[in-house]
Amino acid sequence: MRRAPETFSTTRLDATRVGAEAVAFVQEIFRDDRVNATLGGPRDAARIENDLDRWSGHWDHHGFGLWILHDRNSGAPVGWTMLTATDTGGAGGVEVGWTIVADRWREGMAFEAGSAATRIGFEILGLDALVSFTTPHNIASRGVMDKIGFRYDGDVAHAGLPHVIYRLDRTTWEKTNG
Ligand SMILES: CC(C)(COP(=O)(O)OP(=O)(O)OC[C@H]1O[C@@H](n2cnc3c(N)ncnc32)[C@H](O)[C@@H]1OP(=O)(O)O)[C@@H](O)C(=O)NCCC(=O)NCCS
Repeated sequence: MRRAPETFSTTRLDATRVGAEAVAFVQEIFRDDRVNATLGGPRDAARIENDLDRWSGHWDHHGFGLWILHDRNSGAPVGWTMLTATDTGGAGGVEVGWTIVADRWREGMAFEAGSAATRIGFEILGLDALVSFTTPHNIASRGVMDKIGFRYDGDVAHAGLPHVIYRLDRTTWEKTNG
């Protein structure tokens, strides 16, 4: 099984495989209404600890998962990006996703981290395609998808809610990023 790196760096960000130590930061994210408005609402500590356990298991099982992002200048946590095994949009898929603390929105960090995760998906994991999905009104996330090169591929149900799904295949990605 090919495995993703547990750490990577971009121009402004250090990314590290998520672990139990992220609990305080993830709690802080889910206390911020600006962020959790599109993440399904607040989560209590028990739910977050359960989420972190699940992410740890995801890394062990699939060899990739969620990375916490730190600002390389300050060391402060600023969000996460992830590669997630999913059947939404077709069995055996891999989704790329992102979340950034609201005070740092529109600085290009989701694009920077999501582009790096996309590169890992294609170049290291050798995937043929990636998907990304969100609720239709999440214009910011759709903008990140577009900027990386994902294209709208239809409407799907996910977690009992209507979602839009975007897709990017490796051949298309390589034409501009290879
Ligand atoms: C979605 C999210 C991660 C975007 O983070 P970000 O770091 O602000 O995004 P970027 O600065 O990298 O933006 C990349 C592009 O997306 C588009 N975009 C981002 N935010 C936008 C907004 N509020 N309105 C319109 N377009 C937006 C723009 O095209 C932007 O490129 P540009 O700045 O050159 O115009 C952030 O809004 C967030 O954390 N939201 C809450 C959590 C969430 O919804 N996560 C996704 C779940 S599917």
